[in-house]
Amino acid sequence: MLSIQEKIKTALKAHNAILVAHYYVDAKLQTLAEETGGIVSDSLEMARFSQNCDADIIIVAGVKFMGETAKILSPEKTVLILDDNATCSLDEDCPIDEFSKFCDEHSNRTVVVYANTSAQVKAKADWVVTSGSALNVVKYLKDKGKKILWAPDKHLGNYVKNKTGVDMLLWQGACLVHERFKAKALIQLQNIYPEAATLVHPESPQEVVDLADVIGSTTTLINAVKNRKEQTFIVATDNGIFHKMHEVAPNKKLIEAPTMGESADCESCAHCQWMAMNTLDNCLDAIQNKTHEIIIDQSIVIQAKKSIHKLLNFTI
Ligand code: 13P
Ligand code: SF4
Repeated sequence: MLSIQEKIKTALKAHNAILVAHYYVDAKLQTLAEETGGIVSDSLEMARFSQNCDADIIIVAGVKFMGETAKILSPEKTVLILDDNATCSLDEDCPIDEFSKFCDEHSNRTVVVYANTSAQVKAKADWVVTSGSALNVVKYLKDKGKKILWAPDKHLGNYVKNKTGVDMLLWQGACLVHERFKAKALIQLQNIYPEAATLVHPESPQEVVDLADVIGSTTTLINAVKNRKEQTFIVATDNGIFHKMHEVAPNKKLIEAPTMGESADCESCAHCQWMAMNTLDNCLDAIQNKTHEIIIDQSIVIQAKKSIHKLLNFTI
């Protein structure tokens, strides 16, 4: 009998479909994406890859905003996600009506939004940025004398604001997962492992970012494990990333940064509940039954594409 992985491989081929996966999803899906010619990457590279590949169907193992970005960049392709409920607290924290009102009240500011937003919010923005590009884009806008309205992640916004000194008005959203990392417990862990380097995603609170040796996107943190001389790393981001980190540096020791969830003993505090909705079973279902297709209004696609293209064309 065929394994579920074999069934997915056969179905991908039969439908000229490609699987793209984020570093936070189930390791089995990451492996499958790479084995079948797809990609495992951060949110920006997933979209770039989808745009450039010649598949008819893009299967996005990640969360809804990632599927929407792929659709905006490749409107002629069918884009499927694995579960309609796989959202993101940052996206949920920034409903379009309130956000539009906020923009209209501050129309003198350039609107910069994080990729973790709905297609409608992206359509309202002047620029879309990712964790890997936010600093450089904001520095560029600073040189042009711009004041910024930033949404939705207050922690990433605060980090960029402190680093660049730009006048930034911040929307008050947060990532449910990164907000659980706690500075006091992290200091205790750093004292136990003084030889370790601490890697932090900038969606984490400022006091946690302040304790980092490396701050950056998922790709930056993986490269740090691969390239830095330390043998031990304390990692403050979703623990789905450990799969790729182990793969690129099998002999290095990885330790989860301490978290505190809604309940003190939450089981997988450092794992995104929405990323966890991506399973092999619903991957097969998505391909065979074309479930959870991303549909976006043409007018929104046209507007959102402009702000995403600014990022894709941005070079420093
Ligand atoms: P990256 O763009 O760094 O992969 O981040 C996406 C994300 O959702 C982090 O929580
Ligand atoms: Fe959103 Fe945080 Fe989950 Fe990333 S980890 S998808 S930012 S809730």
